[in-house]
Amino acid sequence: MTNRMWGGRFSAGPDEIMTEINASIDFDKRFAAQDIAGSLAHCDMLAATGIITDADAAEIRQGLSTIQTEIDRGTFTFSRALEDIHMNIEARLAELIGPAAGRLHTARSRNDQVATDFRLYVRDVLDTFDAQVKDLQLALVGKAEAHADTIMPGFTHLQSAQPVTFGHHCLAYVEMFARDRARLADARGRLNQSPLGAAALAGTSFPIDREMTAKALGFDGPARNSLDAVSDRDFVLETLAAASICATHLSRLAEELVIWCTAQFGFVRLSDKFSTGSSIMPQKRNPDAAELVRAKVGRILGALNALIVVMKGLPLTYSKDMQEDKEPAFDAFDSLSLALAAMTGMVSDLEPQKETMHAAASSGFATATDLADWLVRALGLPFREAHHITGSIVALAEENACALDQLSLAQMQSVHASISDDVFSVLSVENSVASRTCFGGTAPDNVRAQVKFWQNALRD
Ligand code: ARG
Repeated sequence: MTNRMWGGRFSAGPDEIMTEINASIDFDKRFAAQDIAGSLAHCDMLAATGIITDADAAEIRQGLSTIQTEIDRGTFTFSRALEDIHMNIEARLAELIGPAAGRLHTARSRNDQVATDFRLYVRDVLDTFDAQVKDLQLALVGKAEAHADTIMPGFTHLQSAQPVTFGHHCLAYVEMFARDRARLADARGRLNQSPLGAAALAGTSFPIDREMTAKALGFDGPARNSLDAVSDRDFVLETLAAASICATHLSRLAEELVIWCTAQFGFVRLSDKFSTGSSIMPQKRNPDAAELVRAKVGRILGALNALIVVMKGLPLTYSKDMQEDKEPAFDAFDSLSLALAAMTGMVSDLEPQKETMHAAASSGFATATDLADWLVRALGLPFREAHHITGSIVALAEENACALDQLSLAQMQSVHASISDDVFSVLSVENSVASRTCFGGTAPDNVRAQVKFWQNALRD
């Protein structure tokens, strides 16, 4: 059988392999709701501009509503022979209402239809991401509030560097996720233009009202150039780029959770809800969810890569290559959504192990910088010299296998005679973090102020 939708000039139907490679219905059925919304807007506009009669429009609306119900109930039969969601819906409409169905496609093409559907779909995805990232931020702010003065080692090179607070560490991620949300919002702003009415590529000679359909679909306005409207997918690329960066942030946090919940670190305990056991080693509690979140960036970035390569070098306007824009993007969207949900669950449930973190912060001479700063402040030494002297004191402590504040004053003075008893006031980790009061520093009071800032900023 030749195709009902475009088979006029064909005498033979497609080869089986042709149907296999050509059909997108298996994945673009996700666009059903968007496709129906687009058709309703188009139908209303066709009636309002007198291009179709009100009677035909009423039948079309009725038919589309029946189709929506069938899809919602799972009784709609999707057919590969009808290629894609657009033709599946239109064919069903014809079955339901007869000839009036054929008028819906006036002044429209699948090219502007698919571009519209995908934009509407990605817009919903962006809104979902925004809400999900915000939930994660709230979970992190909650931990920051509870642990504004919980001390842990801060790391550079994964070597103990200076003491920080767990709350400060959580808020670092809140900042990253805020930038992710800004990137997503930015993509949404550029995405929100309606391709509908660009038709196949050149626009249409019918007196359509593109402002009307744009408004009905919640777009800011119609896309200005019909060729661009049907042929670009940069709104997907931007979303995938922002999603990849967000997934990168998630993977860093996930990696920290993996490290922190090892027996060797023991900084946090992940809840049973997000851990698994081993079938052979009874002692194991594996952070599988964190590991999977860590890995998801692979396929999300993979989707970005795939679509960039598909779009690269494509001549204007629509080419069937662009049907390959959907599957990797859908997979990436689902993956990020799942990763965000899992991370939010893990963060909400995790229990920081205060004593272990404190002990770790106190080891590794983490207050050496505080000692050097004291030498600058109290003795007026240049920082470089203070750094050198501190190095010698650290070496001394290492020789004696003790912490900096366990050295005697006499031992300190053996390195620099002017060191006084006052030095001990800066060597505790509590003192170290409390002293970092510069804007953006880790002092508990700062963390509490930042928690307030975020609680406010994240209030709706
Ligand atoms: N299924 C197609 C896609 O996803 C819809 C557009 C088809 N347009 C065409 N001229 N064949 O890209």
